[in-house]
Amino acid sequence: MNHFLAISDLSSGEVQDLLDLAIKLKEEYFKKGNPPLFKGKVLGMIFQKPSLRTRVSFDMAMRHCGGDALYLSPNEIGLGKRESIADISRVLSGYVQALMARVFDHEHVLELAKWSSIPVVNGLSDYNHPCQGMADALTIQEKFGKAKGLNVTFVGDGNNVAVSLMHVSAKLGWNFTIGNPEGYDINPKAVEIAQNIAKETGSKLNFVRDPHEAVKGAHVIYTDTWTSMGQEEETAKREKVFPPYQVNAGLVSEADKDVIVMHCLPAHRNHELTDDVADGPHSVIFPQAHNRLHAQKAILARLFGVA
Ligand code: CP
Ligand code: NVA
Repeated sequence: MNHFLAISDLSSGEVQDLLDLAIKLKEEYFKKGNPPLFKGKVLGMIFQKPSLRTRVSFDMAMRHCGGDALYLSPNEIGLGKRESIADISRVLSGYVQALMARVFDHEHVLELAKWSSIPVVNGLSDYNHPCQGMADALTIQEKFGKAKGLNVTFVGDGNNVAVSLMHVSAKLGWNFTIGNPEGYDINPKAVEIAQNIAKETGSKLNFVRDPHEAVKGAHVIYTDTWTSMGQEEETAKREKVFPPYQVNAGLVSEADKDVIVMHCLPAHRNHELTDDVADGPHSVIFPQAHNRLHAQKAILARLFGVA
């Protein structure tokens, strides 16, 4: 593994291997603390957009394992504006031992990786959110084990988070369903990739409009904001389209009785997810957020070649 840019770049075995390592590092962290696996290593963190979870969990992942992290804010380095991405990537390759980047345009994280001589991690782009997808899979396996054939349903906008959830589901042999309104379909190229993965793993992929149909038999209901970062000018329009896709107690009651409700956060409470569901018995949103830390330790450990 040279970079971590998309879950679809990994084999099913590599995905499971990362999850197993994440569980091991998590157990170790809570028992006696992690050993200094990342000693002498610094992760440069480039952010073109705001973040709570990604920023803090990567920083803490590095510190827990004896390393350090350096936050580079949008205004500081002006990715592609003050300086070309190719130049930034080559300069930083001589200062830090790995890069994590949150970008608007997916091409920009690919460009960073192209020019970098150190590992690059995708911390969210307009296309996908693979670190989130790994933490999501970890959370699902902690609840349901490694069984194939689980029904994972995403309700809402066919966005970056949906792409990574679809890909990790296909890799692990889970069935993936998305219920989304017309005009907000999941990226067709990402769907094609998922269909190819599903042919190998036996996952079923379903694309439906009706949120009620989507959640029937679901073991996981997942939702995310109706307006992602960078789409703010569409907020008013989206607020009119998406209310039928709200994850509320009624919708949750139509799924499997042991369904878990997931959200990558930040949540817009009582828009895509009601308070009673977010704070109710089916919700795993906080353990899910905490699993970012453990999943990312595993990703970094593999990239550094230390575990
Ligand atoms: N889920 C997630 O990536 O959160 P942040 O935007 O706060 O990093
Ligand atoms: N889809 C959301 C995820 C935030 C973590 C966004 O891109 O803004």
